[in-house]
Amino acid sequence: MNTKKALIFGITGQDGSYLAEFLLSREYEVHGVIRRASTFNTVRIDHLYQDPHIRGTRLFLHYGDLTDTGNIEKLVNQIKPDEIYHLGAQSHVRVSFDMPEYTANTDALGTLRILEAIKNSGNHIKFYNAASSEMFGSTLPPQNELSLFHPRSPYAVAKVFSFDITRLYREAYGIFACNGLLFNHESPRRGETFVTRKITMGIARIRAGLDKKLYLGNLKAKRDWGFAPEYVEAMHMMLCQEKPDDYVVATGESHSVREFLELAFSYAGLGDYKNYVEIDQRYFRPAEVESLIGNASKAKERLGWQPKITCSDLCKIMIDSDFKNLHLDIIGEGNKILKEKFPNKWWKID
Ligand code: NAP
Ligand code: GDD
Repeated sequence: MNTKKALIFGITGQDGSYLAEFLLSREYEVHGVIRRASTFNTVRIDHLYQDPHIRGTRLFLHYGDLTDTGNIEKLVNQIKPDEIYHLGAQSHVRVSFDMPEYTANTDALGTLRILEAIKNSGNHIKFYNAASSEMFGSTLPPQNELSLFHPRSPYAVAKVFSFDITRLYREAYGIFACNGLLFNHESPRRGETFVTRKITMGIARIRAGLDKKLYLGNLKAKRDWGFAPEYVEAMHMMLCQEKPDDYVVATGESHSVREFLELAFSYAGLGDYKNYVEIDQRYFRPAEVESLIGNASKAKERLGWQPKITCSDLCKIMIDSDFKNLHLDIIGEGNKILKEKFPNKWWKID
């Protein structure tokens, strides 16, 4: 059998870990780029680790960084992947206001560096770029592939560059390059400073008696929150098409942060969130994206992609997981939803 090779930038992140698991379940040989850190940063992929000395190993990790052109060129030339999934980024919108230059270097120029490496290699490599719904910024919802970009953060500006440069390399050099315009997607593996996970972890900590309060910023913002494992499948579907293109991936359902809080506190049996939540100005952004609601009709029609998990399901799944992490009795509806909706799931339940 001719095993396909995938190279994943950002394999240690939420999406990278699920995508690696998905591709391994599809018999791919998976190569992932990890950053050197003084502490282990591979916790999301530890369950996938395989000793490279054992015959038949299909997961390989390589040190690298999106700011290092020579390293990227070397990895692309040595590994000779069939597909590259570019999921690496400084992905926190609020942090991008504190580190705009680093964010641009990693998220914008990092994309260009990979595309240049693909072009210079002369190999036929399919490329997926993680663009973002954040690029729509203040454009009114619902947003689709034809909506205008009006970025509202250094992160979003960098992602607009990454989107445009990906499309340019497709048009100018014939590279099979796709942009995924993914709306917010969450999971038990979501970074702990993004709002959904901050809320579900905060609730678990309150339940366990470790914290009394949860400090948040703007509760009015609305997001279209989906489930990360379903979204990484859409990435793969894009690269399986005959022609490269750009796709919105979203649920089409939107909720405010306040509504997510209400859902979460009610599911956890803690009652009114106002008894626990305080507003802290430090979590507000200099410019905010008020409302995101995706129209994923194109992905449905062309890729056959359709999400199963609603925001309410997601909230239950994440709370069950965070309760389990703190050895609390879990409520269990989240796990039940996972079993019912994904009888053949390919990822490990956290
Ligand atoms: P994440 O959990 O923050 O993961 C980001 C990944 O990028 C991590 O593996 C991180 O490595 C790596 N990374 C950061 N800086 C790097 C650098 N300079 N060089 C190499 N690798 C670097 O993000 P995610 O939620 O999985 O999102 C994946 C991608 O989709 C990102 O590009 C994000 O901007 C985009 N996106 C996400 C969403 C969403 O809702 N999740 C929506 C739209 C677009 P470490 O583990 O070492 O930090
Ligand atoms: N992080 C955070 N922390 N956000 C808060 C808080 C808080 O304490 N309080 C309120 N919010 C609001 C933010 O102001 C924002 O409007 C909303 O909650 C969602 O914030 P995040 O969860 O940080 O996600 P994001 O929408 O800014 O960015 C995520 O989604 C993008 C796709 O639209 C990230 O995953 C980006 O990488 C991704 O591109």
